[in-house]
Amino acid sequence: MSQSDGDVHPVVDSTAVFKDGIFKNKVLFCTGGGSGICRVMTEAVMRHGASAAIVGRNEERLKETAQELSAATRNVCLAIKADVRDPRQVQAAVKQTIERYGRIDFVINGAAGNFLAPISGLSENGFRTVIEIDTFGTYYTIKATLPYVRAAKGSYIHVSATLHYRGTPYQVHVSAAKAAVDATSAVLAVEEGPHGVRSNVIAPGPIAGTEGENRLSAKGPTRQNHWPLPMGRKGDSRDIANATVFLFSDAASFISGQILVVDGASEHLRVPM
Ligand code: HXC
Repeated sequence: MSQSDGDVHPVVDSTAVFKDGIFKNKVLFCTGGGSGICRVMTEAVMRHGASAAIVGRNEERLKETAQELSAATRNVCLAIKADVRDPRQVQAAVKQTIERYGRIDFVINGAAGNFLAPISGLSENGFRTVIEIDTFGTYYTIKATLPYVRAAKGSYIHVSATLHYRGTPYQVHVSAAKAAVDATSAVLAVEEGPHGVRSNVIAPGPIAGTEGENRLSAKGPTRQNHWPLPMGRKGDSRDIANATVFLFSDAASFISGQILVVDGASEHLRVPM
């Protein structure tokens, strides 16, 4: 357990709460797993016994991360270069995962793009790019993995956000993309429930040290500069990882079609600018 100064709600590693080996013989397929929150989510699932394939555009970073995760968890991690905007590349990544492991139990849809831009200044291509990464990427990944996740009676987690619950300035592209991701997850949950597949969303709030949070908090008159912190701290990637382990675990076997907001109650206090 680690605790920062004065925290009444300290960050806890999942291994301090959940049993070892709960994901033994399971396989995780994670887009965006090379860095940030998704890397920490992957590490937590691997620490409980799973093997993983991490997918992204930056091959060098993926390989380095895969090596580090394997060393830290003593489970196998495959690095697969693919752009989630291209369904053929996603299909090839899934094929490679199946050739290596023979199964896919868990999928994290985490690949995402983000930057600050007002509607008036955002180019058509800028809008399209984020929709293609977040929304199309999620759909392509679901399509390509579903036969295997069905066979394993497995589970999806889509990484969304809380930005689209209200009008967040300079975030029209991300807001539109994540609203679609939330809706996609709900449909997946009801269509695939009869096949034993679960689908849930994790919506992180302000998570310290992440690329998204750094970019959104860095500058500009946006509400992200003023995240309220009712629990006295920003989130930690391990807070998201703990939610991930719970949602993939059998303890969540009747939880599907849900959005789990992991934000320390920040959204409830967010005020208009
Ligand atoms: C305005 C921008 C821009 C910027 C890119 N574009 N960055 N417009 N401001 N800062 C525009 C470009 O001008 C171009 O349009 C189009 O988007 C595509 O840009 P490219 O650079 O050619 O595309 P690409 O190399 O594919 O990379 C785009 C990107 C990247 C993936 C979106 O810029 C990016 O944002 N990477 C960061 C990834 C990231 O932070 N992920 C974590 C997300 S966290 P034109 O018209 O010029 O051709 C998250 C949750 C937030 O989303 C919650 C936080 C609390």
